[in-house]
Amino acid sequence: MYAAMGVLGLAPSKETGPVPTVGGAAAPAPYVPPQRSDFSLRGGRPATVLVLGAGVAGLACAYELGKAGYDCTVLEARDRVGGRSMTLRGGDAVTELPARVHSGTTQAAATLGAGETQQVTFGAGTYFNAGPARIAQWMVTLDYCRELGVPLEVFVNANASAYILTEGMKAPVRARTARADAYGYVSELLAKATDAGALDARLSDADKERLLDFLSDFGEIGESYGYTGGDRRGYRVNPGVGAGTGLGTPPSLTEVLSQALGRMLTMDAGYEQAMPMFQPVGGMDGIVRALAAQVGAERIRTGTRVTRIMNRPEGVEVTFDGGAPLKADYCVAALPPHLLARIPGNLGADVRTALATPVPMSAGKLGLEYGRRWWEIEDRVYGGATETDLDVGHIWYPSYGFHTERGLIVGYYNTGEDAETYNALPHRERLRRALAQGRRVHGGKYGTDLIASVSVAWRRQPHIEGSWVRWPSLSGFTLLQRPAGRVYFAGDWLTHLIAWQAGAFESARKVVTELHHRVLKEG
Ligand code: ALA
Repeated sequence: MYAAMGVLGLAPSKETGPVPTVGGAAAPAPYVPPQRSDFSLRGGRPATVLVLGAGVAGLACAYELGKAGYDCTVLEARDRVGGRSMTLRGGDAVTELPARVHSGTTQAAATLGAGETQQVTFGAGTYFNAGPARIAQWMVTLDYCRELGVPLEVFVNANASAYILTEGMKAPVRARTARADAYGYVSELLAKATDAGALDARLSDADKERLLDFLSDFGEIGESYGYTGGDRRGYRVNPGVGAGTGLGTPPSLTEVLSQALGRMLTMDAGYEQAMPMFQPVGGMDGIVRALAAQVGAERIRTGTRVTRIMNRPEGVEVTFDGGAPLKADYCVAALPPHLLARIPGNLGADVRTALATPVPMSAGKLGLEYGRRWWEIEDRVYGGATETDLDVGHIWYPSYGFHTERGLIVGYYNTGEDAETYNALPHRERLRRALAQGRRVHGGKYGTDLIASVSVAWRRQPHIEGSWVRWPSLSGFTLLQRPAGRVYFAGDWLTHLIAWQAGAFESARKVVTELHHRVLKEG
């Protein structure tokens, strides 16, 4: 109640108690959704708002504004809502723009061929999250899942039984084995250096004792600090009634160092990637579907490409292909910045320059539907990812449908140059190349029992043209945090959570809060 009054300016803005802090900085004010009663307390009326783009940011804006009775219309150029939050199922079709060569930040590129349309022929129950696929516990996305009633399940982001394969390895090894060897040798080296007094300038006698204790557990090293491998490495024959058969002597230190394991072993150490992570049951698009249902189908116009955005003294005017211009009090432009930069209008030269600053990036994903879950049956891998430095990047095993008949592996999830290599190919070639790489991990079975496949090159997705963006400098970032006249900007690209739905939600909340305050103030 007090918070709501604060939003309306009915409560003193300065708290008398201590200001809560996060890491030394003042904690942001909790988000208070706009509500109808804000107007009954303050007068005024909810405004009309044109929302451009029915991705997570656009839908979240319309949903939040709708709570206070704003009259929102969402214009979406694609024939489906969700933007990059795209889950593919049997019966879907994916059309790509013609292939282009992108060199560095140069976006102008040579056309190599016509765009291709892939028909998705997955069986019932199989889905492929071609865009976002995992949600961290701390992200606001989970709050929306709770609020919207979108059921969740665990997304297995790291699996000790999955594999690691780098160009420095002769053969793939299980993640647990690579980790045991890396931790083991690092512990051995550090323990021996400590014991020999090499770190005396840095460590007291008590520190040394504690460090040696720590390393003995961390690396599973022996009394003389040598690493010889333990049962953390795994077994060739698992223990049961019998004691099991181990994997034998670990590779040499030199061999382990040449495996370049640093990135492979720390993928899930990042704040955004730590387990447990979550996914909506039945597909990531459960979130955008729920948002769209709340907004109302009658307010969302798909197949509507915006061609001009004009600030007028009394409101905004948005023109689109094949219809009379629409007028509203405000606009929220929730399109990718590189697309907004190309739309004519009168937002100003500085805004246009700022919109053209973020560089669209490349990422690609391939969904492989198999008729037999051989990774569970033969390899005992239940979800998670194989990490590689091959051009496929990551191979993901499904975190849903365990023990059912079919299953969907993500045959590549790559970014940067690797994505551009695959993006330039027709689907059939992408598939051939990815299967050859997958065989290096799993052998011949990777090619058998394959029923269907589909790949998405995000740089070639119409009306999206990028997996996410990179700001070469933050010039323009702050400018676009503010409205250009009556036009606000929203999207993950305006946050420090780029490439996360959470970024889109956070940005939407900021815009909604500011727009609502303005409407309450200006009437
Ligand atoms: N958020 C994206 C991912 O999890 C980049 O891979």
